[in-house]
Amino acid sequence: MIRPILRHGAGVLHTPARPVDAITPDILQLIDDMIQTMYVAPGIGLAAPQVGVALRIFVADISVGRNPADLLTFINPEFVERDGMQLEEEGCLSVPGFEATVARPQRAVVRGLDRDGKEQIVEGTGLLARCFQHEMDHLDGTLFVDRLRGLQKDLIVRKIRKLNRAGKW
Ligand code: NI
Repeated sequence: MIRPILRHGAGVLHTPARPVDAITPDILQLIDDMIQTMYVAPGIGLAAPQVGVALRIFVADISVGRNPADLLTFINPEFVERDGMQLEEEGCLSVPGFEATVARPQRAVVRGLDRDGKEQIVEGTGLLARCFQHEMDHLDGTLFVDRLRGLQKDLIVRKIRKLNRAGKW
């Protein structure tokens, strides 16, 4: 089932998510829904808070469905290593219509459970490392806009407020 994607301003997007206690049928359904929602959007990653669920789960697929092996599900993920730095344009399904250059690690290693409850460790470089950092930020209640500085951040937030007032957000 495709779930609505919440936008900047929804409380759950700005609040740290809780760890998952047990991988129940409801959690598996949530993961299936998140994957479907991510592909339809389309996007390369989606975190549970984006569909209104304050749990530490994200899905990612930098091939956007072209390569089944690229589909990753992480439950209760944490960083094992991060190094280097990259500067690229970035957007978010919860901040549609806006992009900005965000500093991210060039390489990131994430450890967490897969949907079967098995521990997995995945190393990402370039786009995947960026995706990992972006989705992990979602689990901590941080959007890419929050990573921007002063004027650039203010400009986007002002435009969002304006859209909101116009009923277009
Ligand atoms: Ni996002």
